[in-house]
Amino acid sequence: MKFIIAFIFLVSLLLINQPVEPGMACPLSTFGISLIIDVAEYESISVEQVLDKLCSYLPSEMSLVCEEYINKYAELLIEELKTDDHPDSLARKIGLCPMDSQCTLFPSDKKMNFKKNSKSRYSNKDTKVSQNSKSVWESILDELKKIYEKHDPIVDLDGDHFSDTRKLRGSNWRGKDCDDLNRSTFPGKVPNSGDKLFDSNCNGIHGRDENKINYEDKFCKGTQPMTTMVIGDSIGAHFHIPVQFLQADQLSNGVLKDNLIELLEMEGDWPQKSWATGFDLTPNDMCEGDVNSIYLKMLERNQCNHRNYVNIAVNGMSSAGVYDLLKSSLIESIQKESYPVFGILQLFGDDICIADNITQLPTPQQFRENMVKALHKLDSVVAPGSVFFLMSLLDGTRPYNVLHDKIHPIGHGVTYADFYEYMKCTQISFCSLFLTTNITEMLYVEKLALKYTQQLKDITETEKFVNFDAKFLETPQKELDELFIANGWDLTLIYEPVGGFHPTQLSNYWMAELIWKRIVTLYPEFVPPINPHNKEIIQKFGDQGGY
Ligand SMILES: *[C@@H]1O[C@H](CO)[C@@H](O)[C@H](O)[C@H]1NC(C)=O
Ligand SMILES: *[C@@H]1O[C@H](CO)[C@@H](O)[C@H](O)[C@H]1NC(C)=O
Ligand SMILES: *[C@@H]1O[C@H](CO)[C@@H](O)[C@H](O)[C@H]1NC(C)=O
Repeated sequence: MKFIIAFIFLVSLLLINQPVEPGMACPLSTFGISLIIDVAEYESISVEQVLDKLCSYLPSEMSLVCEEYINKYAELLIEELKTDDHPDSLARKIGLCPMDSQCTLFPSDKKMNFKKNSKSRYSNKDTKVSQNSKSVWESILDELKKIYEKHDPIVDLDGDHFSDTRKLRGSNWRGKDCDDLNRSTFPGKVPNSGDKLFDSNCNGIHGRDENKINYEDKFCKGTQPMTTMVIGDSIGAHFHIPVQFLQADQLSNGVLKDNLIELLEMEGDWPQKSWATGFDLTPNDMCEGDVNSIYLKMLERNQCNHRNYVNIAVNGMSSAGVYDLLKSSLIESIQKESYPVFGILQLFGDDICIADNITQLPTPQQFRENMVKALHKLDSVVAPGSVFFLMSLLDGTRPYNVLHDKIHPIGHGVTYADFYEYMKCTQISFCSLFLTTNITEMLYVEKLALKYTQQLKDITETEKFVNFDAKFLETPQKELDELFIANGWDLTLIYEPVGGFHPTQLSNYWMAELIWKRIVTLYPEFVPPINPHNKEIIQKFGDQGGY
């Protein structure tokens, strides 16, 4: 029950981190119980009634699994609720948290304001669970497992790593494949015969004009189209959990039912609206705000770049994982037929975030070796004339400093500091060494992050690559803070409310602006020219086939 709602939330959180510890049931049930009580309060019904309806709040594929949980724990929960309203202790009493658990989310010394209005006993309607009850959900999980292990498109009939469906690492991540049965047709390809007959690179430009000149030749040849690529972590992928998932009124409105599976199939990420490769301008309640991206800047300069973006950022990606990621995600034969890459390599801090304690952190020398190995792999794959900007790590102390004394959307007096500590205690934190009240630890890892950044800078100065230039780029984090202050926006708006860590859509918008500005200012020689035919392309080809 509870766990399922919280499950979503936590599954999403967990996707960020690497190994899933077995002690999941405890935080899941604690979040879940608090949400159940909130829904009862909001709808003015008994907890019992909420439990009856709970599974209908979830996608139908999950409802049978949900009912199993309900049947198992509901009666006990109702019983305990008669004398207790503290989610942490309730989760212990019904056996989902260890009795001696040291982790507490809801502060016992503050007024939590939980109301409960349960009276009668919960009656199990149907305790038998059919044998194949999990099959739909399990088949979804199987699918999810594939993308969570290997971050390549699932629906990709011709094996070129481009897809014509959006989710499951499809066209939300990499330009849509306009012929998924032809391995020689994919976004970013250098057209071989001027696309006289059809569009080999899916940019919507093909055919010949009245003088029998190929439009690709006329409009794109010599204009230096480039593939916008980001290789990185959850910030490159734009991880985002809608805050509506924690709102009682939205839960009963079906917010999970409508959005959960899709979000899971997207790994909790919104690359289509990200600062790096965002392109999707259609408004979406689950991720509100304008979209701006490095890809859109490149497209604005040259309409021939339509659909030419690749996002291979992965939640939890650290330097140790990049080599394997590149090996699996980039196909050499495809890249060699493609335009050069205008690339961003960003590892903003997962070398630190995936560690549980300071004994597990890579040394700066290890970090360097990982990066050099990955970059040489990249060099062997991409087309000549590419450029990669290596971005500095973020100052991971900022989210804590900005949010720690603010109230988390789960409510009931829970501050972000409480939330961070709870996540750390139950070993499911996004980043236990930065999201912590242990300031000594936080400052220690911040120093280390600066050393990693120094290594990146040094790599760009000393290592030689054949097919690309590597340029160091300081991440404009201070500038983002300053921009928010100058606009009179609260600094809390920089960070995702649910996780209290990742940049919001508003931040993504401005990150694109600031990063682009920095590239143009520092490295104008690597910014391709404006295509003089842009207007003609739009006139002739309209939205170029959209996305
Ligand atoms: C596959 O795509 C290539 C390049 O776009 C084209 O030359 C070829 O004719 C296509 N093959 C088929 C069977 O459509
Ligand atoms: C650090 O974490 C590792 C793995 O979780 C664990 O084995 C080790 O005991 C921890 N060390 C300290 C000092 O807590
Ligand atoms: C803070 O972190 C350091 C380093 O991990 C550790 O030695 C120390 O015991 C921690 N302090 C507290 C109060 O937990």
